[in-house]
Amino acid sequence: MTELAAIQSKNGHANGYASGHSNGTANSHSKEASPLTNDQIPISPSAPQDVPGLLSQIASHGDAFLGIDPDARLKLLEDARALVNALETPRESMIRYCWAQSTIYAAIETGVDIELFHKLSLSDKPKSAAELAEDTGCDPFMLSRLLKHLAAMDVIGEAGPDLYRRTGFTIALCSEKYSDGFPLMTRRFTAGIHALPAYLKKNGYRNPTNPTDTALQLGFNTDLHFFETVKQDPVTAKQFNNHMSIYSLGRPSWMDVGFFPVQERLIEGSNTTNDNVLLIDMGGSIGHDLSEFKRKWPDAPGRLILQDLPTVACHAQGLDPTIEVMPHDFFTPQPVKGARAYYMHSVLHDWPDDMCRKILANLIPALRPGYSKVLINENVIPDKGAYWETTSLDLIMMTIGSGERTERHWYTLLESARLKIIKVWTAPAQKGEESLIECELA
Ligand SMILES: C[S@@+](CC[C@H](N)C(=O)[O-])C[C@H]1O[C@@H](n2cnc3c(N)ncnc32)[C@H](O)[C@@H]1O
Repeated sequence: MTELAAIQSKNGHANGYASGHSNGTANSHSKEASPLTNDQIPISPSAPQDVPGLLSQIASHGDAFLGIDPDARLKLLEDARALVNALETPRESMIRYCWAQSTIYAAIETGVDIELFHKLSLSDKPKSAAELAEDTGCDPFMLSRLLKHLAAMDVIGEAGPDLYRRTGFTIALCSEKYSDGFPLMTRRFTAGIHALPAYLKKNGYRNPTNPTDTALQLGFNTDLHFFETVKQDPVTAKQFNNHMSIYSLGRPSWMDVGFFPVQERLIEGSNTTNDNVLLIDMGGSIGHDLSEFKRKWPDAPGRLILQDLPTVACHAQGLDPTIEVMPHDFFTPQPVKGARAYYMHSVLHDWPDDMCRKILANLIPALRPGYSKVLINENVIPDKGAYWETTSLDLIMMTIGSGERTERHWYTLLESARLKIIKVWTAPAQKGEESLIECELA
């Protein structure tokens, strides 16, 4: 009998579930939870009582996925993650957080730097560690160690002893748009994230709201605001713009049918004369959202204007010629008056409330009452069941002194800035909380 089976048999239960020994909380079969002994901690799954339900959900979402239900993939993925968490022991979870996540990050970033993923993805033919060492100019023994970890964590595939093959993720990492996220985090965010516990302790666990006194300044030993550090470093700027251009791809977009009624609420009722401005994307980076709008609504009448800081706007290249690029700092008065809509995507989440009010105060005089709309494309965090992508972004924002907001918070902020929320539009069956907050002058 194995040690695990022996302990389970001593407890009188197989597989750990229905034993009252799920870690942390009482399970549904027993009112009294017995604390685990030290011997049991390394071998007891964290939530065994959830396993049967998750397995049946996986079976049913799996059937729907194979039947090509477009929503089933995400449900299946979430169930699969929940299953892993339920099955993992506390020791395994601790090792994953402490060892695996930091080291796989380092291995991927190194792989990006030495163009490992390009070399591996040139064809679907597996490549040996020795060939990859030659291709990348690396010490074969060092590279073989990185390759083993990349394969152990499923970043690359294993085709045999010291033989590797590409995966879908490997192929995506050949594109700078995807791979730039890794060096970007290291160059501008990770030291701030690592400094967060010390920063919060030093500041009595208060919510940071001064963007020049945050974990970012502590971690990077600087006095500069995050966007100042981006402005001063062309490499970061390029990586940040690339990361911005793909972070929301594949998720429901407000421009899609069934999310925000673009035709009825934006196009209809807009002035169709030639110089009418339909949409201004404020802080629109290198124009990916306006390009998407042009692609999805090619016949929408009126001008499309992209605004961002001069150091960013100058990189907006290859856009549809009808998209106008206008350098503009949104802490100064909005120069384009009376547009149909002023749009901001993931802009206000970068700033604490008082600075959002300054951005909006510079916009308000440009709005034409009863005509202009402010469209705010941001996360609206629910009180329960927030999605992990949003909560992780929220903590990244905490390190720069801002954050994601709940619906209540959005109402308070926007009403204090003389705006009235007409409606918060959210995609049906969406995982994540990115919504379109439609506002007008109050
Ligand atoms: C988080 S990014 C979002 C980019 C884009 N809207 C998107 O969702 O992909 C924030 C953007 O705000 C821009 N930004 C920061 N400070 C600005 C300012 N003072 N005036 C105009 N744009 C600014 C940045 O350059 C960046 O492109």
